[in-house]
Amino acid sequence: MKEVLLKLNHISKTFAGRQALKDINMMIHEGEILGFLGPSGAGKTTTIKIVTGQLVQSSGEATILNSDTRKINEEIYEKIGIVTDASGIYEEFTVYDNLLLFAQLLKVETLRIDELLERVGLKEQRNQMAGKLSKGQTQRLVLARAVLHKPKLLFLDEPTSGLDPSTALDIHKLLLELKDDGMGIFLTTHNMEEATKLCDHVALLNDGNIVEFGTPKEICLRYNSDKKYRVLLNSQEEVILSQNPAQMAQLHEWLITDEVEAVHSCEPTLENVFLTVTGRELQ
Ligand SMILES: Nc1ncnc2c1ncn2[C@@H]1O[C@H](COP(=O)(O)OP(=O)(O)O)[C@@H](O)[C@H]1O
Ligand SMILES: [Mg+2]
Repeated sequence: MKEVLLKLNHISKTFAGRQALKDINMMIHEGEILGFLGPSGAGKTTTIKIVTGQLVQSSGEATILNSDTRKINEEIYEKIGIVTDASGIYEEFTVYDNLLLFAQLLKVETLRIDELLERVGLKEQRNQMAGKLSKGQTQRLVLARAVLHKPKLLFLDEPTSGLDPSTALDIHKLLLELKDDGMGIFLTTHNMEEATKLCDHVALLNDGNIVEFGTPKEICLRYNSDKKYRVLLNSQEEVILSQNPAQMAQLHEWLITDEVEAVHSCEPTLENVFLTVTGRELQ
């Protein structure tokens, strides 16, 4: 049985009479990436703040590594990592010294610093002032710092938002490696491709409600009532066919006469599902 690292039971949060989170239930296990996918204002950051002890819920219970999130102590903080927009990097320190400072605080062997710099692609920036890094490089450093002590559970609040695609891809690769090492990861994003690619489970969040939950594939197939196929013919003509007898007979005909170059099923994306369920776009 995989260990449950984080559990939310009926969590709600009200700010000055306005409900930001409504009855949120979910769990994260070791080696699992759970995605909170929702547009700006959906309640993603509020959820992260509650489960990391930076805010207190209005009702419900949440436990992190078997402790109540309202009573998080040092022992728990030593086992989690948090990446939010407030980077907390010391700009006048070098890249290496930023990590050294945390390594000393968290009693991590300094050998781990160079291993991580290599892994996040900052080896060449090792002795550069952190304040001189690009946005993508800063985010790599923030991430290296968050996983320096090999936390059991990592929180990432929109970690690739506004980054160039190649840095985003490097970060995706690193997250999948960390997951393989057994880390549980709570990722918030408004990027449905990122969620589809990385997450074992996703919760679609809208106005503080989880409106869908499952694996990205399960969720998309749940909304695939209107089955369609995109067929590319040898002539390079592209045709969309519906699953009705006449059109399937046509596909069959093309297949046996070897006229088909490729066939793709057109199930909806998480973005389409979100739009269907909420009537709103994700970004
Ligand atoms: N400290 C706060 N005081 C009042 N309202 C807040 C506060 N923090 C967040 N909110 C409100 O709660 C809702 C959810 O915000 P947030 O969790 O930041 O969303 P997201 O991270 O998904 O963009 C928004 O309507 C936001 O305005
Ligand atoms: Mg946010």
